[in-house]
Parts: sequence; C-alpha cells; structure tokens
Amino acid sequence: MASASLLYRSLLCLAVAVAVLAAADAAASLDSQCLDNPPELTAAGDGEAGVVVHGLAGFAAYVTGAVHSGRAVLLASDVFGFEAPLLRKIADKVGEAGYYVVVPDFFQGQPYNGDPSINITEWIMAHSPVKAAEDAKPIFAALKREGKSVVGVGGYCWGGKVAVEVAKTNEVEAIVISHPSVVTADDMKDVKCPIEILGAENDIVTPPRLVYQFVNALRQRNEVDYFAKVFQGVNHGFACRYNASNPFENKRAEQALALMLDWFHKHLK
Ligand SMILES: *[C@@H]1O[C@H](CO)[C@@H](O)[C@H](O)[C@H]1NC(C)=O
Ligand SMILES: *[C@@H]1O[C@H](CO)[C@@H](O)[C@H](O)[C@H]1NC(C)=O
Repeated sequence: MASASLLYRSLLCLAVAVAVLAAADAAASLDSQCLDNPPELTAAGDGEAGVVVHGLAGFAAYVTGAVHSGRAVLLASDVFGFEAPLLRKIADKVGEAGYYVVVPDFFQGQPYNGDPSINITEWIMAHSPVKAAEDAKPIFAALKREGKSVVGVGGYCWGGKVAVEVAKTNEVEAIVISHPSVVTADDMKDVKCPIEILGAENDIVTPPRLVYQFVNALRQRNEVDYFAKVFQGVNHGFACRYNASNPFENKRAEQALALMLDWFHKHLK
C-alpha cells in the first residue's frame, strides 16, 4: 500500500515535471540560463595556483597542476571564458588531484561579456563549439608531445558541447560534461570514449529528460562506459557558476567536482 502510493506519487511528479519542462523547453531556445550568474571577474588572479601562458598551440591558456604528470585534463569553459575565478579554482583542484590542467581561451580574448544587446543565439553561431573542438586538435597534439599520454576533457555548458565533439575523435580518453548546452541525444551515438554527464534538476537547457535520453542512447550502444547524475535542487550552471557564499550550492559544486575526479581517476590511467 505504502509503496503503491509512493509509486503513484512519483509517477505524478514525473508527469508534472515533464509537462513543465516541455513548456519551458519550447520557450527557451539557447537559453538565458546559460547567461545566469555571470562570474565576478574583479577577484581574478587572487590565490590562483596556476599561470596564464600564451602560445599553447595558438591559444592563451590558464595552466595549473602537476607539470610532470603524464595525465592531462583540458577544461572547456562556458561562454564566460577562461578567466572565471570559480573555473580556475576547479582547475587548481583538478591539478591538486595529480593532473596537468589547461583551460584554453577558446574565445581569443572575447568571451560573452553580458552585454544585453548581444543576441546569444547569434553569438553561439559565431563561436561554434564544434569549430572549437576542431581548433583544439593542435592543443591535444601539443599535450601529447609534452608527454601527456592520457588526456581527459571536462566541459561546462558551451564547453560541454566542445567535450562531446572531441570525444567523437580518438584524441582523448574520457570526458565529463556538466550542464552541457546544445548537446543532443544523437551526439551520444558517436562518442568514442567514456563519458560522464552531470545534469541539474532545474536545468532548462539540458533538462533531466534530455539527460535520460543521453543515457538511453549510450545504453543501447553498450560500447562506451558512461555515468550520469542529475543533481537535485540546482540550476543549469551549478557546477561552475555557483554562489560561493551559499553552502548548499557550494556543496553541490563540490559533489560535481568529486564525481568528475572519480571519472578521470577511473579512466585516465
Ligand atoms: C537572435 O538571433 C536569431 C538568429 O539570427 C533570431 O532568430 C532571433 O530572433 C534573435 N533574437 C532576438 C531576441 O533578437
Ligand atoms: C548567495 O548566497 C548567500 C547565502 O545564501 C545569499 O545571502 C546571497 O544573497 C546569495 N547571492 C546571490 C547573488 O544570490
């Protein structure tokens, strides 16, 4: 009896959630959620463990972590770019976990700057994550030349799509995508390496329903290792643009980072 009513309740919740998300989806194309909580750049540089280098295969990049490690992680930023202090903090923590970490400036000094007159759909077309994945090839080549024989990519929002496109090549050993944007279930058919997907309950860019579609596509293929989790109580952006003064949001972001590290520890050997 108790379990039947529980089942009924969760089915009801699911139905409501799906209806809400479908409506939200229709209203939101490439979404304002991608632009929520822009990073505070005034604190840039404070307490960072890494440095900015120029000329990493033609890119500026924030570089941190274990210089002599044979294992590297490339973090692909969201539309706000590689200067975001919270992203660099994540990079430093990945570095502390034993990896050589690079965060390239895929926007060549011109990330999305919050200017309300910018049409984000057009901005994304002009800054294609598919093209960025292509442009990143020399970075992977440079990493391999430097003795980084295994490489993973962690992508956030816009960078999640970059990570997925890179995973369609043989250049990397594992990827993690956190609240990705413009990633489709079809993309999952071409992913060649282990993939971890970290979604958010209140994400209308990649809603939980879409995360389940990713999982279904991967399950049907049964060719690459995958893991997915939808974090409750948080929005799109929760893993890299959280409110650092909010204990709950901090905790969620920490959990996302821990899962990303678990995935890299498992697959970057
Ligand atoms: C943004 O650009 C797209 C593509 O050009 C266009 O379809 C859309 O109407 C524009 N949105 C706004 C709010 O101007
Ligand atoms: C961040 O979280 C703190 C603590 O919950 C809250 O007081 C503050 O208003 C939040 N800041 C923003 C910008 O939401």
